[in-house]
Amino acid sequence: MKIDVITIFPGLFEPFVRESILGAAVSSGRVQIGVHDLRDFTSDKHHVVDDAPYGGGPGMVMKPEPLVAAIEAIAGPKGPGRTARVVLLTPQGRRLEQRHLAELACESALVLVCGRYEGVDQRVVDLAVDEEISIGDYVLSGGEVPSMVLIEGVTRLLPGVLGNPDSAKTESFQAGRLEGPQYTRPATFRDRAVPQILLSGDHGAVDRWRAERAEEATRARRPDLCDDPGPARSGPDRKGDRRADHSEREASGDSDVPTAPGETT
Ligand SMILES: C[S@@+](CC[C@H](N)C(=O)[O-])C[C@H]1O[C@@H](n2cnc3c(N)ncnc32)[C@H](O)[C@@H]1O
Repeated sequence: MKIDVITIFPGLFEPFVRESILGAAVSSGRVQIGVHDLRDFTSDKHHVVDDAPYGGGPGMVMKPEPLVAAIEAIAGPKGPGRTARVVLLTPQGRRLEQRHLAELACESALVLVCGRYEGVDQRVVDLAVDEEISIGDYVLSGGEVPSMVLIEGVTRLLPGVLGNPDSAKTESFQAGRLEGPQYTRPATFRDRAVPQILLSGDHGAVDRWRAERAEEATRARRPDLCDDPGPARSGPDRKGDRRADHSEREASGDSDVPTAPGETT
């Protein structure tokens, strides 16, 4: 998958795309990330990207010309011939959920547009954006962190990015449920023992226990998810999580990952 980002702060993405699971996905070519400085698409000598709002009011608005020029240079004009899905990160967009990440992970190319200031001129949305996405009901100062959320969430759904195809099925939101509690060694920590069933080696019993705890956690914390079981939510050829944790530790140089008692690898 190719992901292009349009931003006035390209430097924010440099460390982000180098580290951890995403860094490994970039190195292995499973995802390509292009970061574009919006100011390169301006035509005035001061590289201005914002202006005062028509009608008055606080702050500045991102001008349409550089944004539309940048989007069209990367994805082509809006319409059927377009080579990528163009997403504007904005609090006014649809609120991001795991199932949307799975949808986006099926695209071959995405362009993520990061707003700043009071947001972007509406004509950018009308003329050049395919979809508006919010990462939640709160306001940040720019679309860069929301873009990173989307990049990380989508990338970990791509085939081969995580190691174990099974464990993702138990992840929170995959089947409309939260994941239950997890434990690793030591078996007892400050007088708190790991539930005996997890040490039993009885995989059927462990699976049942985990399903019950997941149900319990969801009913207690997110009863709205229980009302809406939804479809099984998974990305293309999902890869799994315990292995993902290993990959992350390997990426950070910590490869001494214990195999918990009772677990087969
Ligand atoms: C300060 S915000 C603009 C908020 C806008 N005036 C409003 O009230 O909806 C600047 C930029 O940050 C990004 N942003 C802030 N909060 C966001 C969120 N919850 N989800 C996605 N993008 C967000 C958007 O790109 C937005 O254009």
